[in-house]
Amino acid sequence: MKKLLVTGGAGFIGSCFIRHILKKYNDYEVINLDLLTYCGNLENLEDIKNNSNYSFVHGDICDKDLVRSLVKDVDYVVNFAAESHVDNSIKNPEIFIKTNVQGTLNLLQCSKEIGIEKFLQVSTDEVYGSLGEDGYFYETTPLAPNSPYAASKASADMLVRAYYNTYGLPTLITRCSNNYGPYQYPEKLIPFFILKIKKGEKVPVYGDGKNVRDWLYVYDHCEAIDTVLHKGKIGEVYNIGGHNEKTNLEITRLILNAMGKDENSIEYVADRLGHDRRYAMSNDKISNELGWKPLTSFEDGIKLTIDWYLNHSEWMEHIESKNTDCCH
Ligand SMILES: NC(=O)c1ccc[n+]([C@@H]2O[C@H](COP(=O)([O-])OP(=O)(O)OC[C@H]3O[C@@H](n4cnc5c(N)ncnc54)[C@H](O)[C@@H]3O)[C@@H](O)[C@H]2O)c1
Repeated sequence: MKKLLVTGGAGFIGSCFIRHILKKYNDYEVINLDLLTYCGNLENLEDIKNNSNYSFVHGDICDKDLVRSLVKDVDYVVNFAAESHVDNSIKNPEIFIKTNVQGTLNLLQCSKEIGIEKFLQVSTDEVYGSLGEDGYFYETTPLAPNSPYAASKASADMLVRAYYNTYGLPTLITRCSNNYGPYQYPEKLIPFFILKIKKGEKVPVYGDGKNVRDWLYVYDHCEAIDTVLHKGKIGEVYNIGGHNEKTNLEITRLILNAMGKDENSIEYVADRLGHDRRYAMSNDKISNELGWKPLTSFEDGIKLTIDWYLNHSEWMEHIESKNTDCCH
């Protein structure tokens, strides 16, 4: 049996990753450490909560004693736990430094003290900053984070790098593009807009709506993390992109169209501060070296995603009833 500590496993991508691992391997035991912040939701794991290879621990990645006691029993650590919403980081950056930087440092330090087999840090394309109309982010692209969120993730990446180079901790870093799919907290564009339209409200589009993001289906992302964890070269960084570049306006129109609405439901609002114009990832390294590529076309993925949210209104309603700050 291999033992895996997944942090932030009650969130959007972490819960999908846990489900993926338990479904694919029957010789893996997964411990999920999650603080259940406003976006952590155990309902995301309802279908696997009784799996005998799964256990949940409610706690903070910054808690040294707790993390040490958990890390001592595991082979691998995969760190998803983070504050992850750029808009929140603009309003309240401190918690981003605490969780994303100090929390990662604590996980690294405990992993180093215990001597685990592998530590995988889940990072983001946002650490690279913004692209012009052409080109891609490569693993060699210099880090140039523009938001407090991106800066906190880049800082964590630098710590991971330092723990590999200084102490020889066996680390891996994955940097992915914008994920979409089921169970995403409805503060992020796709579920947020679906929720707004369902309520008969307009959807707020930042600036001219022409900011470009590279959309990655969450199940493809989890397969990629699994691939890097098992086949990745220790000490390396791997970019994971969806190869689906779309402007925010294109995404908005797709959602409006799927829900029987038109452009009248769009409200253009003042642009986000420091809003990066374009992100696009090169998958050359992970494809050529590890043989992974995204399998889900955007057309299929977005249809499955919209259907999922429309068919899971209870999931959405529970979140809304718990937290009045989100989704508005
Ligand atoms: N969603 C995306 O499109 C995207 C893109 C690139 C990178 N990422 C990265 O992937 C990871 C997961 O993102 P997500 O979208 O699933 O995020 P999410 O916000 O849905 O989930 C984050 C989870 O971390 C938990 N958490 C927060 N602080 C914690 C703490 N101190 N201790 C323990 N748990 C804590 C939350 O309760 C939640 O369950 C993050 O590290 C994020 O930076 C996400």
